[in-house]
Amino acid sequence: MGARRDCYNRQIDYLRVSVTDRCNFRCAYCMPVEGVLLQKHTDMLTYEEMLRIIKVLSKEGISKIRLTGGEPLVRKGIVNFISEIAALGTIKDISMTTNGNLLADMAGSLKAAGLNRVNISLDTVDPERFRAITCGADVTQTLKGMEESLRIGLTPVKLNVVLTEFFTESDIAYFINLVHHHTVAVRFIEYMPIGNGRVHAGPSVEKIKSMINSWGKGVLKAVQNVKGYGPARYYTLPEAVGSFGFITPISEHFCQSCNRIRLTADGKFKPCLLSNKEIDVKKALRSSAGDEEIVNLFYLAIGAKQASHTLNEANFQPDFFRNMSQIGG
Ligand code: GTP
Ligand code: 5AD
Ligand code: SF4
Repeated sequence: MGARRDCYNRQIDYLRVSVTDRCNFRCAYCMPVEGVLLQKHTDMLTYEEMLRIIKVLSKEGISKIRLTGGEPLVRKGIVNFISEIAALGTIKDISMTTNGNLLADMAGSLKAAGLNRVNISLDTVDPERFRAITCGADVTQTLKGMEESLRIGLTPVKLNVVLTEFFTESDIAYFINLVHHHTVAVRFIEYMPIGNGRVHAGPSVEKIKSMINSWGKGVLKAVQNVKGYGPARYYTLPEAVGSFGFITPISEHFCQSCNRIRLTADGKFKPCLLSNKEIDVKKALRSSAGDEEIVNLFYLAIGAKQASHTLNEANFQPDFFRNMSQIGG
């Protein structure tokens, strides 16, 4: 069955499933140092409940699933959950967004279970600044996760670099070298003021583009051959095998082509990342609802999608009640 369209004629075929609100990092743009109040285990959807939702929605045109967190790899049983999604036979792309810390050891079993690809958060490769932004994590673990993912073909491997004051020009040299030799897509992401992060926006995307262009390795050229279904716009350099991507929710939002909804770990459909509207699906699941009720809630969620977010409006006041770790980006 084809994908459903929302009120703005956008096809919704991508579900982002946050499998946990727990995380082994405390990224400064995501959480306060002390962390956030965690959901009770009994309030979180079980894998069985999530699988039921995916199965029902795959008949309504959902064909791509991204697993997010918190950090999805800290939830026990994630490998088996992936194999159950794959066994449905209806999902053409299963991907994950991870901080990469546990990835080196798990990549092989994730791929064997049916995971197609990973997006890895890597905001800086400088060990000290990485430690500062994550509150103590070791960048070499994330780099090992990236290398192992490339080696076994969890590809394309994408890196997510949120542009904050922690980013410096020395990272550019590393990333330019990386895309020259590896089929990695390095994506620079404008910081969104959501939740109670502890950072400020860093260099603009235009600044990053001009730093890359003046590095001496040629000029960025737009490409469209990077597999993915999200908002990044991709470019490459003359002799590079990898690419750069730019995600610009602030300077040039991409809401007109939005194709996604979210399922939170505590069982809410979230029509838009940047809105507080939520639709409770857990209550239905736990009161023996039939599949048609889950479908109706999905339609309600699609119907509640707004035309675009309002981060750019002059009088915008961030009043989101969830942190990024409780949504999954
Ligand atoms: P693929 O293109 O399929 O690889 O996925 P993706 O790039 O959408 O996924 P990822 O989880 O890596 O997200 C990259 C960045 O885009 C993160 O900073 C997300 O918060 C941001 N992002 C993802 N979806 C949306 C969205 O619907 N709206 C906005 N404003 N930002 C989003
Ligand atoms: N703005 C932009 N991107 C963010 N991410 C987390 N918080 C923010 C924010 N405030 C990114 C993470 C991760 C993805 C899920 O979202 O780096 O890669
Ligand atoms: Fe964890 Fe991701 Fe938030 Fe960082 S951005 S604290 S890795 S959930």
